[in-house]
Amino acid sequence: MKIGTVQIHGKTILAPMAEYTNYPFRVLAKEFGVSLVYTEMTMAKDIAKKDRRELRLLYTKPNESPVIAQICGRDLECITTTAKIIEGMGFLIIDFNLCCPIARILKQKAGAGLLAEPNEVGRLVQGLVQATSLPITVKILSGMTLENPNCLEIGKICESSGAAAIALHPRPVSEPYIGPADWSLIQKLKQTVKIPVIGTGDIRQPTDVLKMLEATGCDAVMVARGALGRPWIFRDANHLINTGTAHPSAMTADKIKQVMMRHFKLLKDFAGDSAAMLLRRHLPYYARYMGQEDTFGKAIRNIRTNKEFEESVRTWL
Ligand SMILES: Cc1cc2nc3c(=O)[nH]c(=O)nc-3n(C[C@H](O)[C@H](O)[C@H](O)COP(=O)(O)O)c2cc1C
Repeated sequence: MKIGTVQIHGKTILAPMAEYTNYPFRVLAKEFGVSLVYTEMTMAKDIAKKDRRELRLLYTKPNESPVIAQICGRDLECITTTAKIIEGMGFLIIDFNLCCPIARILKQKAGAGLLAEPNEVGRLVQGLVQATSLPITVKILSGMTLENPNCLEIGKICESSGAAAIALHPRPVSEPYIGPADWSLIQKLKQTVKIPVIGTGDIRQPTDVLKMLEATGCDAVMVARGALGRPWIFRDANHLINTGTAHPSAMTADKIKQVMMRHFKLLKDFAGDSAAMLLRRHLPYYARYMGQEDTFGKAIRNIRTNKEFEESVRTWL
């Protein structure tokens, strides 16, 4: 798949996930062979103001390239200023978030709220495309409601406004995480636009990646919750795509522990004493895959320091 001028080798993508897909987790996914990673959503108005905390979300280094910076906003001047700032930071692509369904964002009529204003989407995407030499992608939901999906209309508008690819999470704003994702909309979008289509929604197993590719004809598959506590899903999915067989190396509890400790090390290099606090939200997932929910899983619930985390590992694993 080519996004603008950027060649993407492979078909697996780490989805943007707020509070999860920071630089260390993206590097970990990269070590397991993911083809493309996104930053979590950042607010354009804060980046434009050079807010330090928001800029930290855009920390990147060449070892994770290609990486997409995701921005959210609805003010043209603000998003184009942000795009220009991002251009100088090492990102190869900018993604415009049209999929965030949380109340705070909908209230600003940004994120998925913009799906109710197709013309405005066109104006903003065009403005972004004109403001930067980086390719602009969009990530969308199926529409505002289940009954009235307008992702095909939005997709066409984005394409004609210059977007270089579209990621579709086929659930509506009204039910963003309830019920199954409607993969048939990904297939329809793929038949509607010529630019690459990325599918996301309900990918939990490596086999789901293959199923989505085959069922929808999409160009690449994005894994979100399925990668939490399980970044090796990219290695396994790639192996399955390339050979048609399951990856031969089963993930024993001991190997999962090694992955978790590697994640911790990457976080320590990134955030020092705050590493355990950043790892904490990932730990229930690792505990579950290790079969240690009732022991280690309970012990790490309230850890606050790196030392407490290391002690829990020594005691339980
Ligand atoms: C905890 C969490 C945070 C998310 N944050 C973002 C985000 O910052 N930007 C975005 O475009 N999508 C975000 N998403 C949506 C995912 O990228 C993905 O499209 C969605 O979860 C569907 O995939 P899944 O069913 O495999 O989880 C988030 C999802 C989760 C679960």
